[in-house]
Amino acid sequence: MGWFLHITRSMAKVAVIVGSLRKDSFNRKMAENLIGLAPKSLTLTIVEISGLSLYNQDLEDNPPAGWVEFRNQIRAFDGVLFVTPEYNRSIPGVLKNAIDIGSRPPAQNIWDGKPGAIVSVTPGSLGALAANQHLRLSLSAVNIPVMPKPEAYIGGADKLFDKEDNIIPESTREHMKKFMLAFAEWINRNAKPSSGVPL
Ligand SMILES: Cc1cc2nc3c(=O)[nH]c(=O)nc-3n(C[C@H](O)[C@H](O)[C@H](O)COP(=O)(O)O)c2cc1C
Repeated sequence: MGWFLHITRSMAKVAVIVGSLRKDSFNRKMAENLIGLAPKSLTLTIVEISGLSLYNQDLEDNPPAGWVEFRNQIRAFDGVLFVTPEYNRSIPGVLKNAIDIGSRPPAQNIWDGKPGAIVSVTPGSLGALAANQHLRLSLSAVNIPVMPKPEAYIGGADKLFDKEDNIIPESTREHMKKFMLAFAEWINRNAKPSSGVPL
């Protein structure tokens, strides 16, 4: 019984949202690496945002099928991992659009209370720090408790992956492993009472 409780206690489903639509996106490569580096207690699934039409409040009476599908998809997850580039010192519009679509109508905000974490990835040297921090501001508005530490500002992304798209530096792989382990603990500590993850 104790063993069974221990196992169920830490299982969680995590939606991964990639803030780039680019075919060869470094952020998508990072997201795919994180699926492999996460502890067994987490099941990670990339939820696509490329098909979401632009948010328009006029459409809320009869929302586009893509919005409804996205909202229903995210509802099934216990936590959300955002992996994003920085565009002009903020987050890409496609990612903000997805956050806005999920947040409405306010009483049905799909993000509400789901534990979150952010990884920002760029070929630049500053690790997309501004996007990472801007995203925290929007996520606070939709009531996602975002893991404060460890942080993941990943620079030099153009030299980060080998031909099979695996992370090359052992130090980065180790950091991301620790990051995902910490996120699993963060989800356990901050799980929504209505989610499958016991408090
Ligand atoms: C519109 C635009 C704005 C950008 N602004 C920034 C920026 O502010 N900071 C940064 O580090 N990189 C910036 N970049 C470069 C991106 O980091 C780079 O294109 C990166 O590869 C995007 O992530 P991805 O590989 O996952 O698509 C920008 C790229 C674009 C297209």
